[in-house]
Amino acid sequence: MIIIGGPASNGLEDSIAKALNEKSAKVVDKLFPDGESYIKMPDEIDGEDVVLVQSTYSPQDKHIMELLLMADTARDLNANSITAVVPYMAYMRQDRRFTNGEAVSAQAMLRFMNAAGITSLVVVQPHKSTPFTAFHGNVSLVDPIPLQAKAVSKIISDPVVLAPDKGGINRAEELAGMLKCKFSHIDKVRDSVTWEVKVEAPLVGSFEGKDVVIVDDIISTGGTIAQAAREVLSRGAEKVIAVATHLVMANGARDRLKGAGVSEIFGINTVPYQDAKILDIGSQIAASLTKI
Ligand code: R5P
Repeated sequence: MIIIGGPASNGLEDSIAKALNEKSAKVVDKLFPDGESYIKMPDEIDGEDVVLVQSTYSPQDKHIMELLLMADTARDLNANSITAVVPYMAYMRQDRRFTNGEAVSAQAMLRFMNAAGITSLVVVQPHKSTPFTAFHGNVSLVDPIPLQAKAVSKIISDPVVLAPDKGGINRAEELAGMLKCKFSHIDKVRDSVTWEVKVEAPLVGSFEGKDVVIVDDIISTGGTIAQAAREVLSRGAEKVIAVATHLVMANGARDRLKGAGVSEIFGINTVPYQDAKILDIGSQIAASLTKI
């Protein structure tokens, strides 16, 4: 087996290779003068089980194209098998046609990967698992919640876990189980034109004097968690901690969260964001590779 880091691996090939006691290598990447991506694969591909590590954070389209070039080249160079580890998988939130004519980008991504020769896929906490039925081959979804629970448990007392929307209830329940506390959720609506988030329904449960741990799969603009934080602080919460997996942190998200009273942010090294407590998911990815 060879673990190959792409241009957007965020260094994860090294922690995966170390956990598996396997060799790692890095692709050579450049930009042609007109902006097209150049990829050169390492020499040892022929007959190998190749694991490509490439996240798809911003610029998403470039990183996706690089992954497809890596996979297609590995196939041309006679790899025995091609597994893609995509720690953060972009385009997963558009998982259905909300209005006529829209691209279902989650499904499209999985079809592109199959077409490029990828036969197994490892993804860290995607937005939903349902789109993965569009992928032909093994899929392993890595759960970061045990790692997050262990880290956050060190800085909280008297916690309650909160999902900032209905889609996150299962995550909140799992984290609350590990922190041995109660959980609740909020209902949110997002304006389809401005993307602004509003809290729609009242919360259930008491937040007076509690350390509220808001858990989500992704922080993009920070609007979702900021609204939830304001709501629980106005109901007497002692402090608010944000626990998310993919810290995409677009458009001033850090300041938005700070302004809303979030005192600590935990994330995972699926994207290269640094201004938070970042946990290494390499060993968990390595464990899923052994199952595949
Ligand atoms: C949506 O359902 C996701 O789980 C996140 O809540 C959302 O994508 C976060 O986006 P933002 O940080 O822009 O509010």
